[in-house]
Amino acid sequence: MGFAPQWLALREPADLAARDAGLLGQAARLAGPSPVVVDLGAGTGASLRALSPHMPENAQWQLVDHDPALLAHAVAAHPQARPNVRDLTNLRDLPLSGATLVSASALLDLVSENWLRDLAHVLAHHDLPFYAALSYDGVMTWQPPLAADGAVTAAFNKDQCTDKGFGPALGPHAWSCARQVFAQAGYHVFCAPSPWVLGHDDAPLQGQLLDGIATAAARAGYTDAQAWHAARQVQVTQGQCMIGHQDILAVPKGRVAQLGAVGGV
Ligand SMILES: C[S@@+](CC[C@H](N)C(=O)[O-])C[C@H]1O[C@@H](n2cnc3c(N)ncnc32)[C@H](O)[C@@H]1O
Repeated sequence: MGFAPQWLALREPADLAARDAGLLGQAARLAGPSPVVVDLGAGTGASLRALSPHMPENAQWQLVDHDPALLAHAVAAHPQARPNVRDLTNLRDLPLSGATLVSASALLDLVSENWLRDLAHVLAHHDLPFYAALSYDGVMTWQPPLAADGAVTAAFNKDQCTDKGFGPALGPHAWSCARQVFAQAGYHVFCAPSPWVLGHDDAPLQGQLLDGIATAAARAGYTDAQAWHAARQVQVTQGQCMIGHQDILAVPKGRVAQLGAVGGV
């Protein structure tokens, strides 16, 4: 599926503020003194920008995405990064040679359970840690609330589970499925919430988000999406909204001792 660079740019500051700082720091630490990071579904390079300040300057990045236009944006901003145009629905021959960390952000909710199992199997084979930030967790709340918020969220969550090219998408269940699948593959998995908390300063992001939520809810069969959208749009410059995400850091069990203190479940 396609993602506009404008949408990725609009959401990036909220993503950066939302990422769990503890897991971000631990992921950077696990990448080691000469990091070689493979970022899956890299888009325009948001993970590189989030992790780089916490890594040595010699870090090498391989940015993997099926959209060459997004990777062109990334490489224009970060000429040292290596783009890798590839369809990740097939995990064969992932460019993992020499890698010290595999990362992803806002990707897991698009994928299926089988895909996650295959990924965990491949990464375990290479004894690689996996840092996946910002998986939508199915929780959305608004202040002030509207009676229809719950029904809209339920319809949106249903739409999130339609196939995005990887088989039936996990949508809101992605982070908990990843936790289970990586644990079964021999990892210690740490999780932490990374919600967007959006206020009036984020009105442009809130506005586009509402467009996307209403369109998806209508697609899933919710018939009053337009009315909800109109009522919510009025609140954008005054109200607040919270969109739930989760970050996970999956660490091969033999490498947990390399971590400092870290919260997890
Ligand atoms: C929500 S965007 C996240 C982009 C970036 N990680 C970020 O946080 O801004 C999802 C990314 O996954 C990529 N993607 C989706 N399906 C893909 C596939 N089958 N193979 C490779 N990349 C894919 C999209 O092109 C897009 O860049």
